[in-house]
Amino acid sequence: MNVLAKKKVADLLKKGVLVSPDFIERADTSIDPNKDLVVLDNETNKLLSNAKNVNWKEIEKIRVMYEKGKAALPTIDDIAPVVENELKDVQVISSYKTLPEKADVSNFTGYFNTRYKLIERLLRSRPELQNLSSISRMKNREFSNSVSIIGIINEKMETKNKNLMITLEDSTGKQRVLVNKNKPDLYPEAKDLVVDEVIGINGVYKKDILFVNKIVFPDIPAVDIKKSPDEEYLACMSDLHFGSKQFMPDEFNRFLSWVNLETGNQKQKKIAEKLKYILIAGDIVDGIGVYNNQDSELTTLDIKKQYGTCTKLLSEIPKHINIVISPGNHDAVRMAEPQPPLNNQFSQELTKLKNVLLVSNPATIRIGAKEGFSGFNCLLYHGYSFDYYVANVDSIRMNGGYERADLIMNFLLKRRHLAPAHTSTLINPTLDYDALFIDPVPDFFIAGHIHRTSVSNYKATTLVNSSCWQSMTSFQERLGHNPQPARLPLINLKTRDASIINFGK
Ligand SMILES: [Fe+2]
Ligand SMILES: [Fe+2]
Repeated sequence: MNVLAKKKVADLLKKGVLVSPDFIERADTSIDPNKDLVVLDNETNKLLSNAKNVNWKEIEKIRVMYEKGKAALPTIDDIAPVVENELKDVQVISSYKTLPEKADVSNFTGYFNTRYKLIERLLRSRPELQNLSSISRMKNREFSNSVSIIGIINEKMETKNKNLMITLEDSTGKQRVLVNKNKPDLYPEAKDLVVDEVIGINGVYKKDILFVNKIVFPDIPAVDIKKSPDEEYLACMSDLHFGSKQFMPDEFNRFLSWVNLETGNQKQKKIAEKLKYILIAGDIVDGIGVYNNQDSELTTLDIKKQYGTCTKLLSEIPKHINIVISPGNHDAVRMAEPQPPLNNQFSQELTKLKNVLLVSNPATIRIGAKEGFSGFNCLLYHGYSFDYYVANVDSIRMNGGYERADLIMNFLLKRRHLAPAHTSTLINPTLDYDALFIDPVPDFFIAGHIHRTSVSNYKATTLVNSSCWQSMTSFQERLGHNPQPARLPLINLKTRDASIINFGK
């Protein structure tokens, strides 16, 4: 190693980063490690100078993984800058930025095991699951009048007699369980079950079949609704779709005038004065190549410009308002969930806004904490999995489908998972955690994606689906969607009362 390289290694070590000689020798010789540090270039894999805010910890992790053959060659996206904009009024409970691991079958097995164990732990203590047994232990008996098992649903089918036969699996084996069509409380609930979800069953075991008496879901507990000691407001947004020809500038400008206290009636102005948080759940821009022939529906094919326009308009929101942004399926991050925060080379404009915190999708943040009050847990999830449940769950499809965001969100909360059916979204399989497992129980579950507005409560959780700022696209028209744009759901954190302002014409 030459003297210059040695000096660079020593300087980086002082910053707590150990780099290999090979890594540093590829560096541009003009780099002064005392001034600007180095970062890998996406295109050429060269080292470049003048890169500030480098996430050294992340580079180091990726380098180790890469050398072990466990990660792909890193890109700029993987070593995005550390998020600088931490907001003092917002705490991050979970926001994910996973490494680009090479996924094989073992990753998926590990992921399923993790997800099974997390939900099984919730179900294990439930009093409804009397005489809890593993599947193999239950199979040792001939007959049991009341036995319970916990398992992941492997298969669901209708028998010739129109009963439901479900195959459950745990780490010890598989078991067929039968739901009789003549049980009016049980049968509709069982019809809604989806493959891969984890449930508890209590029933009668006879001749290798478990006849179901009760289905137990992990669910959320019934607790008192939390209220803030102070009157502060939370606004929920999503699906801005900057860059789309259908983006609604007039409506968005009306929102900006309101938030700047220039318009609105007395009550609306009072809310704007006390607005402290705006949480945005994905589809910030329309993106590029998201669906066939999208180009003809875009005002610009430059994704950076889409984020640039977005940044310009969001910069008009008063700086005392805390804005949290998580991505969606139209944004410039990978599709597999958890999607990392929007601080990559395409969306970096957003980091210029000092009142903006960028988090992953999904993510949980805490707002409104103050002396004597622990604050509210807010789960942000864009909602890409929602389409699957509208199409596949009878009680949602037959009761309004896309027009019933409340039913979809309720369904997921009850299952404590944002994608209980594995194929309902794209998942980056992680071995030691499951980002889509719903924990902690949110006070607010905020989503978007279906371009509808709804606010409802399930137990002590408020479910918000956050409208959109894009009129109907030809794609939505073909699918028969009926968007409700330019509405802004608002929550008074002191009373938990909700209101919706319509900025439409
Ligand atoms: Fe959207
Ligand atoms: Fe979406």
